[in-house]
Amino acid sequence: LGEVSIFETLTDDELKSIIERSQLLSYKKDDVVLFESELGNALYIILDGFVKISRTNEDYKEVILAILAERDFFGEMSVLDGAVRSADAIAISKVHALKIAAEDFLDLLEKNPKISLALLREMVSRLRKTDHQIKSISLSDAIGKVASVILRLANDVGRQRRGRVEIDNFASQQEMANYAATSRETISRVLSMFERDGLIERDMNKIIITDFEAFKQKFS
Ligand code: CMP
Repeated sequence: LGEVSIFETLTDDELKSIIERSQLLSYKKDDVVLFESELGNALYIILDGFVKISRTNEDYKEVILAILAERDFFGEMSVLDGAVRSADAIAISKVHALKIAAEDFLDLLEKNPKISLALLREMVSRLRKTDHQIKSISLSDAIGKVASVILRLANDVGRQRRGRVEIDNFASQQEMANYAATSRETISRVLSMFERDGLIERDMNKIIITDFEAFKQKFS
């Protein structure tokens, strides 16, 4: 828990008291952790696994806003403003999470200004990513859209090793399409093209960016 960015400044005793007051939950792939438009009174911290944050548009199409991983939190928006949940949060792998009641979290924020600052930093970072996503969604070319979603996944959940970045393929091609606001066929076509050009390699359940810096320069 001490490795969660917003809790980095807490002492061991403070961390212990959070753990004592929180609930440990387990989810299977495809379980819904929270529903858009429901009232919410807790914040969640992912201990392991991946969670997608998504909304459904008026054509019942899924729009993915973010994919969160170990040590990320979600559910803070309703806790902070008392409004309904802004999106669904759905497990896309097995997930273990800690659930912290709103009043406990708000109490922590009041007592630890550093947590508030870390929380603001993380929310700013999400806003920047979302701004970037809006730009890439409005791109008309498919290659740019698919490259943006690969870059975002690399930043959020990729593992860097010697200039390469490995992205576990927990997200299906349909989910990647819903992230990039394009079709599954486009994802499939552009991934094959990137593979042919040596920009990525594919290994059954992984996408590997062969030269992350070069990929970034080419597409951001
Ligand atoms: P809340 O609105 O309580 O419930 C849904 C959660 O999804 C929300 O809090 C945030 O934690 C998370 N969320 C909503 N929009 C985004 C986004 N654009 N990027 C990352 N996380 C988000």
